[in-house]
Amino acid sequence: MSATPGPIALACRFDAQEWAEWRPALAAALPGDTLVRAGDPDHDPATVEIAIVANPPAGALQRYPRLRLVQSLWAGVDKLLADPTLPADLPIVRMVDPAMNAAMAETALWAVLMLHRGFHVYARQQREGVWQPQAQRRADAVQVGVLGQGQMGGEVSRRLRMLGYRVSGWRRGEPLGPVLASSEILVNLLPLTPHTRGLIDAAVLRQLPRGAALVNLARGAHVVDADLLAALDDGQLGHAVLDVFHQEPLPAGHRFWTHPAVTVLPHVAAQTDAHSAARIVAQNLAAWRRGEALVHQVDRRAGY
Ligand code: GLV
Repeated sequence: MSATPGPIALACRFDAQEWAEWRPALAAALPGDTLVRAGDPDHDPATVEIAIVANPPAGALQRYPRLRLVQSLWAGVDKLLADPTLPADLPIVRMVDPAMNAAMAETALWAVLMLHRGFHVYARQQREGVWQPQAQRRADAVQVGVLGQGQMGGEVSRRLRMLGYRVSGWRRGEPLGPVLASSEILVNLLPLTPHTRGLIDAAVLRQLPRGAALVNLARGAHVVDADLLAALDDGQLGHAVLDVFHQEPLPAGHRFWTHPAVTVLPHVAAQTDAHSAARIVAQNLAAWRRGEALVHQVDRRAGY
């Protein structure tokens, strides 16, 4: 590596507001570095060795022929890995941030509490002017399945147990049937890989207890939408909380928007926190520059 580090390229789809938040956070965490965006004048793309990316458009990194490291600001790197222009041996580090795991756990806890205690039903009843208490059940009578036991799934499982829920966590490779058969609430926190794409289909939904709920906080492509809608329509599934979709923003007119048994969130379950994430990026880059092994490097074969 040269004595003077080359500029670090930022490749993102940030809107103006996000850019105004991220640029200063990264600049403060990386005071010795120059941060550039594609199209910025006065930098030679051939001097860029590091790119910091947030769900960049496919091909965005092609302009940097000497890239040696990609640091993602997103936890999920499925879009990045689907980019055919990305060299197969280019190391990618995904974002692992306790602040993000905590945010994900908050969303999962909110969804599970809502579904368990029927607060979604009371919201509907209020719109209809209906005063109708539901039976109140104890948390330790409610079985929650958590698909994925990584950074986020693990944290969600721990916090659900702290609230008293019975939690069964599932990792790929383990039998799924017993988890499905017992879960009245199923929370998806899997990475999206060729193995997990379309995993939540009619065959999986059919194995849940009748009237169960799905909470998808991972990726839209884990779910076969037509199968989910069919399960909701025939009552096999009682409710779905969906933060992620095949196409985002969710297109106007999509049935999820108005389905009475669907809660739609605009991909906000766990947004990256600019300040804590910028510090993590700086630590990772400093370790890499010292020649240390990268932590949370993406395993390209596993897909996350
Ligand atoms: C958001 O979905 C992320 O992967 O960080």
